[in-house]
This record gives sequence, C-alpha cells and structure tokens, in this order.
Amino acid sequence: MKIKHLTDIKSLKDADIERILSKAREYKDSGLKVHNSLRDKVIFNLFFESSTRTRVSFETASYRLGAKVVNWSAEASSMNKGESFEDTISTLKAMRPDAIVIRHSRYGAPLFVAQNAQCPVINAGDSIRAHPTQALLDAFTIIQAKGSIDGLVIALCGDISHSRVASSNIELFTRLGASVRTISPKEFTPDDLPKNISAFTSMEEGLIGADIIMTQRPQNERMEEALINDKIFFEKYGLTKGRLSIAKKDALVINPGPIRRGVEITDEVADNKDKSLILKQVENGVFIRMAVLDILINDWEL
Ligand code: CP
Repeated sequence: MKIKHLTDIKSLKDADIERILSKAREYKDSGLKVHNSLRDKVIFNLFFESSTRTRVSFETASYRLGAKVVNWSAEASSMNKGESFEDTISTLKAMRPDAIVIRHSRYGAPLFVAQNAQCPVINAGDSIRAHPTQALLDAFTIIQAKGSIDGLVIALCGDISHSRVASSNIELFTRLGASVRTISPKEFTPDDLPKNISAFTSMEEGLIGADIIMTQRPQNERMEEALINDKIFFEKYGLTKGRLSIAKKDALVINPGPIRRGVEITDEVADNKDKSLILKQVENGVFIRMAVLDILINDWEL
C-alpha cells in the first residue's frame, strides 16, 4: 500500500508505521554513507517557523539519499512584500519539486499544502496539532533502547496541551501498545485527553512505575503570554535526579528539544549517558527522515 503524504500519525496504517521503522533500521544498520535512493530528486524544505533539529535532519537525510535540497525561508521570501501563504504555496508547487517538507505555526497548514499536490507533502510540525516524524523517531529510539514499546509505561511530563510532539506521541505510543500517562499542571493538561490516558498533576505520583519519561518545556511561543514562570515550573515539574529515582530503576529519559536546562530538566539528568536518550533521538531523526523521504517519494512514482 502506498503512503502518499505524511501529515499526522492517524493518517498512517499500522503497516505503514512498521514499514517506516523497518526502513529506518535498515538505513541505520548500513552505516553513515550516501545512498542513491533519491538521486536527482529535488526536495523543498519550507520552514515558516524556526527549527534546528527537524530542518537540519531533513536536509541531512536528503543528502544521504543522494537528493538535492532547496532550503526556503519565510524571512527571505516575497511574503515580505505582501504575498499570501496560499499564493506562496502555489508558486512553489509550480516549480515541481519531488517532495515538500513543511513546518508552520498555522493549524493544519500541511493538510492545505497536500491538497492537489503533485508530490508527497511531509509535515515537519504544525501548530499544536502534529509532529509525526518526531513521534516516529521517538518510537524508534525507544525500541532501539528497550527492544519494544509494547507494555511500557511512558510518562509525558510538562506542557502537554501546547505540544504537537505530545499529541503525536500519545497517538503513536498507544498504538504501539504502551500505557501512556501525562504529568502536567492543569494549565498544560488538554481537556480532551483520550480516555485510556491517565492524567497526573504530581511528578511524585506520576513517575511511579515509569519506563520512559519524556520531559517537555512550556511551549511559550504558542501562548499569548507565559502561563507559568520558569522557576515555578522547574520546582514542580523539572526532572531532577531525585525525581528520576522515583521511576523504574532502568527508566530512560527522552526530550524532543529544544531543551531548556533548569526549566524542564537538570544538567545532571540531561547529560547522564546511562539515562538520557536525547542525543540518540537527534541521531535517529536522520534515519527516520531518510526512511520517510525514500518511501514517500518512491511510492509516488509507482
Ligand atoms: N523537536 C523539534 O522539532 O526541534 P526543532 O524545533 O529544533 O526542529
């Protein structure tokens, strides 16, 4: 079955998820080299919002597959002269790229771009809605570290309601068989959490029995003003060595980044090589994006 666009996790069938994880594993096992899977393909990276990890890892993934990348940025575009988002997208689509990767603060922007697109569209994060490649790389990293996600207790801590990563991870981790819980202040707890998700407000209670802990900073850029100040957030929700010891003995820590030391996590936890998977997530992000680009672009031509 072809995968046409990757706009969110719910648009993927279970077999699609397995196919992407398996292809990422193949690329990881083959080592750091340049493949020919996408030779002569042209990929547009359209970032309407800042990014370090996602933009650079899509770019790196494209180069490792032999493709060429066009990095477009809103700041240097004719949107500064008043051109609309819609006309900008039509203009860029008319140049006939082989794939479009898009990040945007507007809810559902990748779904709009995917309408009538003549190439695959891949969501690199939109608003609070979805960040599917981050969820896939998080799942891949956990599977590499623990063997499987099925049966694990995964605690998502911090700002859940403004986080597209939390939203996509809740969906993917539960589909892969994890028991997912949130630990967040009421300001950062969504009203519409699925019924199978337990919502805690206390780290001391919610971390008991956790196999994986995801820490997540307040997403202040998506609020009119900060709802909780950093110091108070850290006191109640910062992952310290002491709090980490409440979880299972072999618990591991993930964080999608950008990380804010002293806000959602201490240096001691973030830099603990036995416990922190943060840089493994970044490394694995390239393999997941290689898999996604390879599968979608080659499926399109079938
Ligand atoms: N996790 C993530 O999306 O990070 P960037 O904003 O740096 O891409």
